[in-house]
Amino acid sequence: MTTQEPGQWWREGAFYQVYVPSFQDGDGDGFGDLRGVEQRLDYIAALGVTAIWLSPIYASPLLDFGYDVSGYTEVGAVFGDLATFERVVRGAHERGLRVVLDYVPQHTSSEHPWFRDALSSRDSAHRDWYLWHDPKPDGGPPNNWASAFGGSSWTFHEPTGQYYYHAHLPEQPSLNWRNPDVKQAMFDVMRFWLDRGVDGFRVDAVWRLIKDALLRDNPMDDGGESFEIGGAAAHTTVRQIQKYTADQPELPGLLTAMHAVTEDYADRMLMGELHLKLERVAALGSRGLDIAMNFSLIDTPWNGVDLAELIQRYYAALPAGSHPNWVLSNHDRSRLASRIGRKRVPGALTLLLTLKGTPTLYYGDELGLPDSPVDSEHARDCAELRAPGLGLGRDPQRMPMPWQEKPAHAGFGPDDVETWLPIPSWAGEFSVESQEFDPGSVLSLVKELLSLRKELAVLREGSITVLSAHPDHLVYRRGDGEDAVLIAVNLSDRDQRIAFPGSTSTLWSSHATVDERDQPTDAVTLAPFEARLLTGSQGNGFASAVQRAVHRRPE
Ligand code: NOJ
Repeated sequence: MTTQEPGQWWREGAFYQVYVPSFQDGDGDGFGDLRGVEQRLDYIAALGVTAIWLSPIYASPLLDFGYDVSGYTEVGAVFGDLATFERVVRGAHERGLRVVLDYVPQHTSSEHPWFRDALSSRDSAHRDWYLWHDPKPDGGPPNNWASAFGGSSWTFHEPTGQYYYHAHLPEQPSLNWRNPDVKQAMFDVMRFWLDRGVDGFRVDAVWRLIKDALLRDNPMDDGGESFEIGGAAAHTTVRQIQKYTADQPELPGLLTAMHAVTEDYADRMLMGELHLKLERVAALGSRGLDIAMNFSLIDTPWNGVDLAELIQRYYAALPAGSHPNWVLSNHDRSRLASRIGRKRVPGALTLLLTLKGTPTLYYGDELGLPDSPVDSEHARDCAELRAPGLGLGRDPQRMPMPWQEKPAHAGFGPDDVETWLPIPSWAGEFSVESQEFDPGSVLSLVKELLSLRKELAVLREGSITVLSAHPDHLVYRRGDGEDAVLIAVNLSDRDQRIAFPGSTSTLWSSHATVDERDQPTDAVTLAPFEARLLTGSQGNGFASAVQRAVHRRPE
């Protein structure tokens, strides 16, 4: 069983990201909500994950679907109410699940009373809670800082004659984290939810929390790897290096102070959204964040050489004591099945769930769900609405979850109510109903792997050694003793033969029809796109011999 000791659950567990608007409509208005989450707690628990990460459920005008908060200690009416939220937390805890809440400290909504007050005059109590600056002599914005959603990140406020800063939409003004009152108020927000039993926070846009006090211009992207410094900027047209708008020297101190709030409570954690160079992400994992979210798998070309290099680079960069994390998909990026192709999904999920560290699984990936293109008439995401047709919109990866095979709205909500994003006619084919009793389905694969993670300590705690960097397959070992497990993933559409000296047994395969299972053998042939877990009793000798063997080409 997964250890539930204080401070350990998030190290050994797996996270399931629930994008609330799209998970389950519990009140029949076509939009997902907390009652819907409550109805699906049994499903989440049965997957075998440890924690649910809920996207924002606060009061919000929903211009960025909850990432624009107008009331941090209120549940948005469209999501439910505080009583329902408390029932979700209680229900989750009764099922052994933790609940991690999205926390949005970088910016508020422009509808937040703090910002309304800040707009009222230069002398208002909350003016300095945001970032205000005078225009340049020519009347232009203070510098070249660009918004993540395109255009300048400065908006002029005519009545008070100054610009305010917003890292994202003009309707998402950034808070001034150098102001002690802001810190106090935002730490109080954390306490409000911690008092209601949440087990931690996913801290939104945390890498952007502090901006350069001297307002120096950001350099433009040179097209090289340095672009990583702004994040892959999936929803922007602007290629600017976030040198002065992200990861400023004060950030680690601020994260430590934020973490201290959680330390007044037992067993709580912080995980932070960081789009920085991999080495920097790794470093911040030991500076105030329990988990520094690692999105690098999303951008790595899907071949054994690049994957092996990434994996080795990441573990080498992790300071002692900091904990690895892998994210394969989320609500900001094209879905896994659409990025790498449906046939590669089983291998990719095997990788996610057997690499060392805490995996983060995006709702619907356990069904192998692809993106669902949304036409301009139905587009909802601000990234699409601001730059239509450029492919920057995030609606396709936010399709409502298909629960049932037949009903018009796939069991997401009532058949006669239009859903907030369209559900395509093919959705039922991917539904939970069509997969749950099929041993060969992606859903069964995810459940089996999560159950193996619980059963085999070596998959949670064991060391990791990459044994092969072949373009067509990837082989690595978890653990190095008698209980070591080998993971072999065929990334190609051809058989891959992998020979071992001495005997090894297949413990598990992504392909239900594998006939070599349980048969001790000295070579396995992986079917196209197959992933396998193998055991052997040869310890280190076994592993190094495999390293030589896996480079043989298939016959
Ligand atoms: C990151 C979130 O993941 C994204 O969805 C959101 O638009 C921005 N932060 C702004 O909050």
